[in-house]
Amino acid sequence: MPKTKTTFFCQNCGAQHAQWVGQCTNCKQWNTIVEEVIQKEEKRNWKTPSNTQKVVSKPKRIQEIELNTEERIITLNNELDVVLGGGLVKGSITLLGGEPGIGKSTLLLQVALQIPQKVLYVSGEESQSQIKMRAERLQKEDSNCLILTETNTQQIFRNIEEVQPDVLVIDSIQTLYTNSIEASPGSISQIKETSAELIKFAKETNTPVLLIGHINKDGNIAGPKILEHMVDVVLQFEGDRNHTYRILRSQKNRFGSTAELGIYEMLSDGLREVTNPSEILISEKDTDLSGTAIASTLEGVRPLMIEIQALVSTAVYGTPQRSTTGYNLKRLHMILAVLEKRAGFKLGAKDVFLNVTGGIYIDDPAIDLAVVAAILSSNQDIAINPDVCFAAEVGLAGEIRPVSKIDQRIVEAEKLGYTTFVTSKYNKITSKNHSIKLILVGKIEEAFATLFA
Ligand code: TYD
Ligand code: MG
Repeated sequence: MPKTKTTFFCQNCGAQHAQWVGQCTNCKQWNTIVEEVIQKEEKRNWKTPSNTQKVVSKPKRIQEIELNTEERIITLNNELDVVLGGGLVKGSITLLGGEPGIGKSTLLLQVALQIPQKVLYVSGEESQSQIKMRAERLQKEDSNCLILTETNTQQIFRNIEEVQPDVLVIDSIQTLYTNSIEASPGSISQIKETSAELIKFAKETNTPVLLIGHINKDGNIAGPKILEHMVDVVLQFEGDRNHTYRILRSQKNRFGSTAELGIYEMLSDGLREVTNPSEILISEKDTDLSGTAIASTLEGVRPLMIEIQALVSTAVYGTPQRSTTGYNLKRLHMILAVLEKRAGFKLGAKDVFLNVTGGIYIDDPAIDLAVVAAILSSNQDIAINPDVCFAAEVGLAGEIRPVSKIDQRIVEAEKLGYTTFVTSKYNKITSKNHSIKLILVGKIEEAFATLFA
């Protein structure tokens, strides 16, 4: 019988401490240390594997290893399939994280009801009738999906033996507990142990497992950071809760690119896949209001046209206000400083509000030029032609810098009916015969001159 032993874990980062401390020395968070019971492992010499353990693994030359192309299960949810890199790989573990109420359970239940293979949906969060109610909303009742409400992994595995599912869904990893450890569900050691059991199950039976994970207040998946290393795929489901759009991003994918992105719309009957996002993200194309500009961004490999709105007004109070939605506030400050210093616009005493429509957070620096255009348009109160779109980064010297995958952006803008494309003259544009008019600029003043000429 191994001796029980306790250690102190940080609930935020998972760091282990020898004693209780007020502040985690690793992540510097206060009051996150809790004591947990762990089992003391027998010390083993690497030379003498314990008698119960037979040596079965052997190294092989790389030429001798047979390549078995990963078998994939197509989930029939196109956006999810794309983000996963072409479907669910057999024997893989996928972790789906996201804020409460964003739609994680809805997404996976919808997928579970849709997959033609047999799915076992294990929920530790909702009762069977609650899930039934949700399924009714989703209007997909005839399916091969079994619902189990259970949080003990030993019980779950017993059910699995009976049911023999092709796909396993766990909602959520934080509710599970295993008998082999005394800590409470949701604690670092329980999460570590239960996910290790599930990973072992997935690899041994070649069954794909989808795990739902809660996130903590910093937006990271709650539990030990090591969890993200253990799983094969980490997906993040995000979006503004006041908007209906949801974005599925991949943070890690052992079987595909992390550049792909899925877009959904939350409707009263579940999540709808959005196949042409640009059309939805741009509100009314034919109004001639000042302060809006269209940016061509690239989310992963997918070009996306989004609308940037700016409002510049004289500050009523002493300190001018700057606020952004969907754009980095520090970057806005930088752009305002560049406009002031390099182009001579006096924005220092103005309030500036910036909004990316659709509630989507954009990382792509290529939207800088559209941000500049929207701000200047609002400041001068001159509307920008709605058929113009922008893609360029703005540098500290006021230079207009090139962006990645410019050809793809141009083609997308052309396809959606834009007539003019403003970008940096330093771009290496390879494709030649565009019907769209290209305006190539090198400095912020030039961009301004062509826009409001
Ligand atoms: P849910 O999947 O429970 O979120 P999570 O598991 O990430 O916590 O999503 C709950 C929200 O989704 C809830 O606020 C209502 C909304 N919703 C819809 O708008 N339409 C639907 O068909 C469903 C099932 C939920
Ligand atoms: Mg849920």
